[in-house]
Amino acid sequence: AVPLLCSLISATAALSYLGMPGWSCSDDLMKRSKTVPTSVHSLRPADIDIIGALGDSLTAANGAGAETNDILGVAIQYRGLTFSVGGDKTLDEHISLANVLKKFNPNLFGYSIRTGSANVWETAKLNAGIPGADASDMVGQANDLIRRLKEHPEIDYLNQWKLIHIFIGGNDMCAWCRYSSETAENYRDNIRKAVQVLQKELPRTIVILVGMVDISLMRRADADHKVCLRMHQSECSCEVNPDVTDEMLSNETKLYIQAQHELEDSGEFDTADDFTLAIQPFFEGVDNICRNPDGTPNMDFFAPDCFHFGAYGHAVVAKNLWNNMMQPKGSKAVGNLTDTGNPMLCPETACPFIRTTKNSQDCTKYIAP
Ligand SMILES: *[C@@H]1O[C@H](CO)[C@@H](O)[C@H](O)[C@H]1NC(C)=O
Ligand SMILES: *[C@@H]1O[C@H](CO)[C@@H](O)[C@H](O)[C@H]1NC(C)=O
Repeated sequence: AVPLLCSLISATAALSYLGMPGWSCSDDLMKRSKTVPTSVHSLRPADIDIIGALGDSLTAANGAGAETNDILGVAIQYRGLTFSVGGDKTLDEHISLANVLKKFNPNLFGYSIRTGSANVWETAKLNAGIPGADASDMVGQANDLIRRLKEHPEIDYLNQWKLIHIFIGGNDMCAWCRYSSETAENYRDNIRKAVQVLQKELPRTIVILVGMVDISLMRRADADHKVCLRMHQSECSCEVNPDVTDEMLSNETKLYIQAQHELEDSGEFDTADDFTLAIQPFFEGVDNICRNPDGTPNMDFFAPDCFHFGAYGHAVVAKNLWNNMMQPKGSKAVGNLTDTGNPMLCPETACPFIRTTKNSQDCTKYIAP
């Protein structure tokens, strides 16, 4: 949620970025399939032509490009910097899923650029995320995204392979302590309904669902920042509610994550060969915020409200996300928000695809002869 602002601090400092200069994989792993794949389990990163996203202010990237202390900048949607579909800069300068995929396929389409709201096609493109959205808004966003895919002549939505990224739940969790309707079951069912709409309307689609983050982590960043604490009153009331313990928030987050896994494990989105849902659970088990070498919170991770991600935070999250997508289900690494120059993975030679439930079980049947 974007709050009304009562305080303005004008001192600013330079923004921090994290890129992967010169990153590449072997030619064989970078190339497209010889013929357009018919199975979502045989999808090389370079086969993705279209990228889109559903989500909230972390997908709209509120504040991501705001300089330190520029509290007003949190109201600005820096869609071009979001960790999923943000297409500003290059991978050399800023890590995002879109910037990684552009390395594999320079013709990738749908990523958002610069700033602005979801309804400005020239900049938002297929980034349908809206600040303040919760899981109950996902069906509406899914329909909006489908309309865009069908309306725009530069997209062949029937034949091109599409990656749709979903990250939602922050606002559900921020309201969880106040509304009895914010249960893990409702959260799951709201996401389910949206993915069902995508499944019905979009052939050749992989849905990437990011596992829920534990918002009690934010408490470790904002303790010394009065302006942040004040902003969180409106942004995330359950986070600043003293009656809500860290343990309560962590427990509820675990229930949300379990509910997400149920969607993948049920097999309900594995009924056609050209559609699947793949959860990237790197936030699961993350028990620390981004730290400086001396152990203090690295505030570059956050936007000036110590809640949304800053450009650097988006890049760290994007690296964790990409690595999870390259790891088979069951062996996906727990994320680490402190980046120490750890590598960004390439597709595995033995299974050079975006990993799905099915190709994680047995990849051999998805390798073209
Ligand atoms: C959190 O979950 C643990 C393990 O299930 C349980 O023992 C504990 O009582 C829960 N705490 C709260 C505050 O609900
Ligand atoms: C994350 O990385 C930092 C820096 O290398 C390290 O100190 C920390 O133990 C890591 N955390 C986890 C959970 O692996």
